[in-house]
Amino acid sequence: MDFNNKIKRILISEQEIKQNIAKAGRYIDSLYDNNPILLIGILKGSFIFLADLARTVTVPCEIEFMSAESYYNNTESSGKINITLDLNQDISGYHVVIAEDIIDTGHTLKAIADILKARNPLSFTIITLLDKPERRTVDINADLSLFTVPNMFVVGYGLDYSGYYRNLPYIAELDCSNL
Ligand code: IMP
Ligand code: MG
Repeated sequence: MDFNNKIKRILISEQEIKQNIAKAGRYIDSLYDNNPILLIGILKGSFIFLADLARTVTVPCEIEFMSAESYYNNTESSGKINITLDLNQDISGYHVVIAEDIIDTGHTLKAIADILKARNPLSFTIITLLDKPERRTVDINADLSLFTVPNMFVVGYGLDYSGYYRNLPYIAELDCSNL
């Protein structure tokens, strides 16, 4: 596979990502007004976003991770989600902020949100780096979405195709023509 040829074009530059993450940091700061938060990154896709977002917030902040896998019927998400990494603490005393890479159909985030809300956090906020609203089949939205992308497959800045491209510093459109 020729890795570089699979990148069609850069959709969102490093600079644009940085600017919007700084705004997300201000949003969290103003929402929580110095109350401590529990920032939860959904692995693996959000690892770079979470690392950058965490460095822009000034409220006291703990960091945890969760991971989920979805089952597929051929290429479409079946909607069944398996939590493969869970928190190991009680979150009932916490203001929870979820950092997600992308909301596509919404199945993954809906499942995670339902599980966490049932554990009665003090508050619950969802921040997503990317949103593909055209693809949504489940009723879930972020409180803050940094960028809206059209219905195309994107990679970089944590997002992968077949495990690759997570380390690109920008968000790019993948050339799906010969996959
Ligand atoms: P959903 O459950 O359909 O919302 O899918 C969410 C997950 O699918 C995301 O957390 C990503 O890991 C993955 N995903 C969806 N669209 C893309 C994309 O365009 N590029 C890379 N991963 C994607
Ligand atoms: Mg993901």
